[in-house]
Parts: sequence; C-alpha cells; structure tokens
Amino acid sequence: MSIVKINVLNVPAEQREVLEKRFASRAGAVENSDGFEWFELLRPVEGTDDYLVYTRWRDEASFQAWMEGPMKAAHQGGGDRPKPAASGSSVWSFEVVQQAAPKSA
Ligand code: HEM
Repeated sequence: MSIVKINVLNVPAEQREVLEKRFASRAGAVENSDGFEWFELLRPVEGTDDYLVYTRWRDEASFQAWMEGPMKAAHQGGGDRPKPAASGSSVWSFEVVQQAAPKSA
C-alpha cells in the first residue's frame, strides 16, 4: 500500500498567517509528480502547535524522486532559502497498513 510523509512545521503563533498565505500561493507542482496521491495542510487546533504537511505517495521511490527534483523548485530553492514562517521542521514516515472510504450510497 501507500506511504505517508508528514512534514512537521513548528510555527510561532505570529507566523501562522504568513505560513498559510505561502501555502495558498504554493507552486502546485506536486500534483503532477508521478506516484503522488494526496496533500493536506493541517492547521493545529488542539494538542499541538505544529502544522502538519500531510503527503501520501504510491511508494518510497516516488517520494524520493519528488524530493530530488520538483520539491526543490516548489520550495523555491530548497533548504538553502531561509524559511521565516517556520522555526523548525522534521519529517515523519509511515506505511499505510489499513484504509477505508465511505461506501457509496
Ligand atoms: C525545511 C523544511 C521545510 C519547510 C520549512 C517547508 C515549508 C513549506 C512552505 C512555506 C511551503 C509553501 C510554498 C513556499 O513558500 O515555498 C511548502 C510547500 C510544500 N511543502 Fe514544504 N517545507 C519543508 C520541507 C518539506 C518536506 C520534507 C515535505 C515532504 C513531506 C514538504 C511538503 C511540501 C509540499 C507537498 C508543498 C506544496 C508544493 C507544491 O505545491 O508543489 N515540505 N513547504
């Protein structure tokens, strides 16, 4: 099954709007990447102050291919560019073990 990569962004309260605006004008390139399945920007409401950038991929190779190419362009220079909106980040990796969707009526 698929894999999930979550980028965890520590965002100071006063930078939340800046971060969300930046995502609102994101490159939109990930949608065209082979093996890309899903993206969500998750805003914290309770239990954490971290934003989660949820991405789901067909397999690890698809994610790695995106990281090595389109990801850098989507981040306008990759890790070299200062990212003032977030004060830190880390990536969580998961394998999808089970999944369900609503039954169509
Ligand atoms: C150094 C760590 C990172 C920071 C601070 C960061 C922050 C951001 C920001 C602010 C944007 C909005 C566009 C922009 O202004 O550049 C963005 C786009 C995005 N980020 Fe990251 N990011 C990081 C690494 C990652 C990683 C490792 C992933 C993989 C899970 C990821 C997934 C995405 C996706 C899917 C988009 C949308 C790209 C598109 O529209 O094509 N980011 N990121």
